[in-house]
Amino acid sequence: MSYDYSEIVPYLLHWYERNARTLRWREEPKPYYVWVSEIMLQQTRVEAVKGYFDRFLAELPDIAALAEAEEEKLLKLWEGLGYYNRVRNMQKAAQLVMREHGGELPADYEALKQLPGIGSYTAGAIASIAFGIPEPSVDGNVLRVLKRVAASFDDITKEKVKKELEADVRAVIPKDRPGDFNQSLMELGATVCLPNGKPLCEQCPLMHLCKAFRQGCEMQIPVKPPKKERKVEARTVFVIKKEWGQAMEIVLHKRPEKGLLSGMWELPNKEGHLTEEEVQKLFPETEVRRLPDGKHIFSHVEWRLWCYEVRLAEACLPQKLEKGTKLFSLKEIREQISIPSAFDCCKKYME
Ligand code: ADE
Repeated sequence: MSYDYSEIVPYLLHWYERNARTLRWREEPKPYYVWVSEIMLQQTRVEAVKGYFDRFLAELPDIAALAEAEEEKLLKLWEGLGYYNRVRNMQKAAQLVMREHGGELPADYEALKQLPGIGSYTAGAIASIAFGIPEPSVDGNVLRVLKRVAASFDDITKEKVKKELEADVRAVIPKDRPGDFNQSLMELGATVCLPNGKPLCEQCPLMHLCKAFRQGCEMQIPVKPPKKERKVEARTVFVIKKEWGQAMEIVLHKRPEKGLLSGMWELPNKEGHLTEEEVQKLFPETEVRRLPDGKHIFSHVEWRLWCYEVRLAEACLPQKLEKGTKLFSLKEIREQISIPSAFDCCKKYME
């Protein structure tokens, strides 16, 4: 069901003027800056994004630089943010923009949505913040705020519900300040109308208009169906070190181009939990040492990791280097290679 949100507009804008955080991509909302920040903000909070944003822009100052960047460099700049396909899609989009849009993001909501990795949320953010086009930008934060205001128990994971809300926002978005309006909703969701039962209603400029607050049901909104349980996988990870020669080197393995962490360099690992004896059998004539266990949660899978350090004896190379693996010096890993944070538990043992 649609809802008339016209009353909230002046209160939101007024609140935003006083409470907006000062952010580089807001001070200078170039289309490229807004794009990069919005993609980063899809997975990480504003505070954490600042450093990534500055580093990314220093290395890749414009769309042309992004289009031409080496993939390893791109992944290195994204290291720790996760969802690496997002930055790969950004590069594909940048290449397309170079070929078909003369190197500039199009000032057109529908044309933006045609670009790889740009959905209605990001297209709306770029259109409204960078180009002043009155289009909605509805993400999880905005859905939460608006569904609470309307005391709506709609399932927000349904595409139809999101489309309807976008139409409701489009109907009231102020033509002279669409970017401020969209960001005021995002900002309110990120700082006041918090998820997980912690909304700060006393600080909210919409308290007097919020039906959920009046009815005392703000904790039950937004409604989402229960998530499927994550599959738990046992894996064994190896920090394989070659310590002779000029500098210590570590064995890394390149993951397949499809699926989880596609195309990323990782520490070699095997399915299941292998005991020390089993690992010793895999690497005869080496020194094997058990490291502390690790755990990593992806969206659909959880890895429970048993970890081992394996110090190769000179005699057992190269036959121990499996297909898809390669030796890297620590310097190369530090400066050029992005290893997914799933392996963070082992990183300090790679020195
Ligand atoms: N979250 C995602 N994008 C945002 C923005 N532009 N302002 C505030 N919070 C956000």
